[in-house]
Amino acid sequence: MTQKVFLVIGAGAGIGGQTAARFAQGGYHAVLARRSDEQGLHRLVGAIEEAGGTASGTLLDAAADGTIEDLVERTERDIGPIEMVLYNLGAQIGTRGLANTPHRTFELGWRLGCFGLFRLAHALTPHMVARGSGTILVTSATAAVRGNAGQHGHAAAMGGRRMLCQTLNAEFAPQGVHVAHVVVDGSVDAPDTLGKLLGDRFDDYKAMKGEDGVIDPAALAETYWHLAHQPRNCWTHEVDVRPFSDVPWWNDNPDPKIAT
Ligand SMILES: NC(=O)c1ccc[n+]([C@@H]2O[C@H](COP(=O)([O-])OP(=O)(O)OC[C@H]3O[C@@H](n4cnc5c(N)ncnc54)[C@H](OP(=O)(O)O)[C@@H]3O)[C@@H](O)[C@H]2O)c1
Repeated sequence: MTQKVFLVIGAGAGIGGQTAARFAQGGYHAVLARRSDEQGLHRLVGAIEEAGGTASGTLLDAAADGTIEDLVERTERDIGPIEMVLYNLGAQIGTRGLANTPHRTFELGWRLGCFGLFRLAHALTPHMVARGSGTILVTSATAAVRGNAGQHGHAAAMGGRRMLCQTLNAEFAPQGVHVAHVVVDGSVDAPDTLGKLLGDRFDDYKAMKGEDGVIDPAALAETYWHLAHQPRNCWTHEVDVRPFSDVPWWNDNPDPKIAT
């Protein structure tokens, strides 16, 4: 089988899975990779197939040496050219003070947030450059552009990821490879990440945020689709998204005494 492939590294039911579904709907074979939840993986692949698309899935630990590289080579050899990829892993280490950030935690955040993208680029760009085209989409977070209390590992990993995207873009855009860094500056309706973190409080949290107060990952998938299909005379390198009711990271909450 040879089909143009959209690969997602970090495909849960949120951004990763919804973007895979969007690209499958658009004619790509979606390859979904996640760490541990085999049933969840089958549900996502099955939903894509039921909707008329094609998809396959694999479990891997992206933090482990060789896994990303092996996935890229297997996909290129057995399924088809990876025309587009979404690197969707967060740093996965949460908010913690310095004393609660041991070396191994900082390193794991860096492995997932930054080094994994570097490894992906190493494995995939030779294929894309040989074809003269390709798109590397990277989901990111507010921590990529702003450090904050308890964000030592998270902000270092995501800030590094942002700089890596700029550097990859500088080298590979002239060779036809588009790198787009997406700053997700708000909460996502993502049951496998934020949902698991909040547990029983997830529904209350979404109710507290109100209608359209959290990002719908299916809506965000449309942004990815647009980015990935921009003509090369009009490429976006970085974009940010948030719900309408959130204060962007660069603004402060308005002072009620000044607001009229
Ligand atoms: N959720 C939010 O509120 C939010 C806010 C801002 C930015 N973001 C960004 O959005 C991205 C994540 O999207 P999402 O939250 O919607 O999640 P998602 O796409 O629903 O799921 C991400 C998946 O990544 C997988 N994963 C975690 N560690 C892995 C590893 N070592 N190897 C392979 N797969 C691994 C997990 O798989 P398993 O479940 O199988 O372990 C998880 O299901 C991250 O880049 C994050 O920084 C999210």
